[in-house]
Amino acid sequence: LGDPALGSAVADWFADAARDLPWRAEGFGAWGVLVSEIMLQQTQVDRVIPRLAAWLERWPTPADLAASPPSEAVRMWDRLGYPRRALRLHACATAIAEEHGNVVPDDVDALLALPGIGDYTARAVAVFAYRQRHPVVDTNTRRVIARAVLGHAEAAPPHRRDLVDMTALLPEDVAASTVVNAGVMELGAIVCTARSPRCDACPIAARCAWRAAGYPAYDGPVRQR
Ligand code: ADE
Repeated sequence: LGDPALGSAVADWFADAARDLPWRAEGFGAWGVLVSEIMLQQTQVDRVIPRLAAWLERWPTPADLAASPPSEAVRMWDRLGYPRRALRLHACATAIAEEHGNVVPDDVDALLALPGIGDYTARAVAVFAYRQRHPVVDTNTRRVIARAVLGHAEAAPPHRRDLVDMTALLPEDVAASTVVNAGVMELGAIVCTARSPRCDACPIAARCAWRAAGYPAYDGPVRQR
């Protein structure tokens, strides 16, 4: 997987082409990043943006949320879907308020120990809020790597996530690595999409293994539930 030029081409592209999303603003804060990542797990960006703003206005810190009843969190979650996420976020806020002095932990293991925080969210918070160097692997990242690096039409199912090695794409430099993480995710979200990739707009099309192979159809393991 070792072509470092891939990561830097994506980082250069990201500097120009990235969407201007609220959680990417300087100083957005770790609590905001955490809430945004939970909302974004199953809900589209456009629908998350207004709900996230309303949420953070009402509960600017984890302790503010913890002081409200869980039923209020579910009501505020409103039309985002999968309302169990609101209860998990409430439990998470309570743990942060009670066990971490109302400060979102900056350590991946401490994040993983919080209720409702899995591999993806723990690393996303450590990278996007605290600018650390970890692989942040979501559906979009996995598809980009499957195509550009491995030459497959799609990623293997999530239980085969070991097949995706994101770390090798990340530059040693920590600041640069956060941009590559965000850039690969963004590329998958807006250019290298599942159904209609826009290879003419892709900064790594010339280096893409799937393109070089003539876009073979997916022939990997079947998704299982
Ligand atoms: N989807 C999940 N996390 C995201 C993020 N940080 N930026 C854009 N889309 C996302």
